[in-house]
Amino acid sequence: MAGAAAASSAACSSPAPNPTTRYPVRRRVPRPPLVAASRHCTASPFPTTISISSSGLGQARPRDPFLNPRLRFAAAAAAAEGEGEMAAEASAAAAEGAQAKPFSVLFVCLGNICRSPAAEAVFRNLVSKRGLESKFLIDSAGTIGYHEGNKADSRMRSASKKRGIEVTSISRPVKPSDFRDFDLILAMDRQNYEDLLSSFERWRHREPLPDSGPKKVKLMCSYCKRHTESEVPDPYYGGPQGFEKVLDLLEDACESLLDSIVAENASVSA
Ligand code: 4NP
Repeated sequence: MAGAAAASSAACSSPAPNPTTRYPVRRRVPRPPLVAASRHCTASPFPTTISISSSGLGQARPRDPFLNPRLRFAAAAAAAEGEGEMAAEASAAAAEGAQAKPFSVLFVCLGNICRSPAAEAVFRNLVSKRGLESKFLIDSAGTIGYHEGNKADSRMRSASKKRGIEVTSISRPVKPSDFRDFDLILAMDRQNYEDLLSSFERWRHREPLPDSGPKKVKLMCSYCKRHTESEVPDPYYGGPQGFEKVLDLLEDACESLLDSIVAENASVSA
């Protein structure tokens, strides 16, 4: 018995730590940020620089001086020190960046496969007809992620195509940063509107979000001029006429939405 106990004890006990032994220190290595692939044919208006940080991990950094704190700081520092040509160059780059900041619009419905991708496409089409592509950042999302990664519903794509509008977006759910990144968030119906506000309330406790977040959310039909409906109805479980109705409402709303953005934002009309 005593022999068995001794053998068991020897097998289980770990050796006493030797104070002279140097153990390697395990450091936490920061993970690289997840950079999502573009979901659209249109690229961001700003080129991106991939830099190698001190951790050796690649990070995407915008080269837009307005967004890039290092360039903004360089412009300010050079100007303060009166470094002639360099100051002028950096200031010009910063001013150009400030002018180039696009007005950003996000269209939101439930699944992001019928109404909001169509809204995105209708609005993109109008913006392009007016030659304002460089002034806008346009996207769409769903309050649920059930269809994430999917193309828009084929019925919506073909109804839009008949009107000369290509629906190209890929479904994604709304995310907290949308409340930072977008100037205006258009909800297709009241439920989408309420869900967006509830998400904002939940997310603002997790990460810093602008107080202006809820004010950015508007009902799409509040922009309609020729229609009296207050919501864009969900066409998913209905017939083809439902998709036509959605497009009628979206064409009406998008026209006056664009007019009002252009009228209220000097940076867009300039
Ligand atoms: P959407 O339409 O919100 O306009 O994209 C719907 C798409 C999918 C579902 C409901 C509505 N669904 O239940 O899966």
